[in-house]
Amino acid sequence: MKTTLDDCRVIELPRIWERRGSLTPITGGDQVPFEIQRVYYLYDVPGGENRGGHAHRALQQLLVSIMGAFDVVLDDGGNKKTVRLQRAYYGLFVPTMIWRELVNFSSGGICLVLASALYDEADYIRDYDQFLRCKNGGGAEPGTYTG
Ligand code: TYD
Repeated sequence: MKTTLDDCRVIELPRIWERRGSLTPITGGDQVPFEIQRVYYLYDVPGGENRGGHAHRALQQLLVSIMGAFDVVLDDGGNKKTVRLQRAYYGLFVPTMIWRELVNFSSGGICLVLASALYDEADYIRDYDQFLRCKNGGGAEPGTYTG
């Protein structure tokens, strides 16, 4: 699918606010437009370090800043935009074939990631030039069976 930045969107998550604290439930197929197969989180990110720096062929993800803040630089091969995540009740949906970098982590920042599939290194595109070729070349993406 030829995804663009328009397919990346911030989803407002439910927030159950009480005096004793807040709670945000996330249900696959409901708030998130995919079934959740995997959850992981990024934490203890040293100042100045970046995460991401790749695209996924088939994986869809929802990124949530559950503590602190960070910026997500999204790139569809033609345009870029930066989304700052700093609330635990906003999730950034990142569809397939979008290059993303996570930068400017605040100290103690934690990024929760909900993912549509199990970990598979073959699903990653870690080379930016290869990503651009896949996006802009118009041909089949390497690794994709074309018959
Ligand atoms: P990577 O996805 O490259 O991290 P980033 O968040 O910066 O994009 O993953 C870093 C390392 O962790 C890499 O060696 C693969 C491994 N890893 C797993 O083993 N399982 C996972 O579910 C994930 C996300 C990563």
